Amino acid sequence: MVESAPFPAYVKIVEVGPRDGLQNEATPVPSEVKLELIKRLIGSGLSVVEATSFVSPKWVPQLADQQTIMSHLSEKFLQGDGDKKVNFPVLTPNLKGFENAIKAGAKEVAIFAAASESFSQKNINCSVEESIQRFTPILEQAKQLNLPVRGYISCVLGCPYEGNIASEKVAHIAEKLYQMGCYEISLGDTIGVGTPLKTQQLLSEIKHVVPIDKLAVHFHDTYGQALANILAALQMGISTVDASVAGLGGCPYAKGASGNVATEDVVYMLDGMKIQSGVNLSTLVDAGDYISSFLKRENGSKVARAILAKRPS
Ligand code: HMG
Ligand code: MG
Repeated sequence: MVESAPFPAYVKIVEVGPRDGLQNEATPVPSEVKLELIKRLIGSGLSVVEATSFVSPKWVPQLADQQTIMSHLSEKFLQGDGDKKVNFPVLTPNLKGFENAIKAGAKEVAIFAAASESFSQKNINCSVEESIQRFTPILEQAKQLNLPVRGYISCVLGCPYEGNIASEKVAHIAEKLYQMGCYEISLGDTIGVGTPLKTQQLLSEIKHVVPIDKLAVHFHDTYGQALANILAALQMGISTVDASVAGLGGCPYAKGASGNVATEDVVYMLDGMKIQSGVNLSTLVDAGDYISSFLKRENGSKVARAILAKRPS
């Protein structure tokens, strides 16, 4: 048995829809639609909305409009001290991406490593060790600018190319990113293969090297286990959860991976458990409906579908 902690009173949701949710979409989504989605997500009360990625447009064409997105957000929300209530982290795989992000007005960035060598090669075209070397100058410059850096680790519960991943390997990278200065480490179940017991075993290993309140969980829902895994993680003291509105998402370099856990489903569960998240479910459902309608896609959130079905047409 894994030792459990009391449930947290508040859970911070990191909305990754505009980034993880859209990066895998084949049809180009116009910048105005992305900005409208972000506006609606903020309107629902979310305090962290991952806005885009400063990656190569050849690798992720959908996010090639990162400058446009950030310049609009900058103008509206990030001027001067900006609106302190919402953070818009962006992904930066290397110094070039970091420098572009800073120029575009980003006030927070995220670096992304993997616990699997093969995935690292496919996703960012370098080994895990090389990726750590690439992140070092980003963390150094971010420190000088007093800019928070989030750290992701992919494939923490399995890899599309290597299968099982040893939890010691994940813990080693988590410790490394934390020591390098990441203020939070998000543990990515990129292909959604984890189960609650595996989730708890992994967290028990990592909490010895990174404090539990500096860890976040990031579940894709390929096998329908995401919500159960989140509950198992909350039992271990996790209080930061990544999610994507309408369950959009997937990594273009993880074949067969489906969307992230739907933010609506997470909020419904938290509401039911009397855990605060600061998010208004009804407004969030509208945001998910907006983007699902645009993509002409069935809404990936069961909660949203149930709520929308009950609304008068
Ligand atoms: P590379 O081809 O090895 O890069 O790609 P390079 O350094 O050899 O440069 C090649 C060209 O790319 C050059 O341009 C560079 O200037 C340009 P050229 O001279 O040919 O015209 N370049 C860039 N352009 C714009 N922005 C940059 C940049 N860097 C180089 N930052 C690279 C290496 C890392 C750039 C590439 O592999 C890449 O962009 N990968 C990103 C893949 C990605 O975004 N994956 C999805 C996000 S991760 C994820 O979804 C998992 C997560 O959700 C957690 C989970 O679920 O597990 C976070
Ligand atoms: Mg992801």
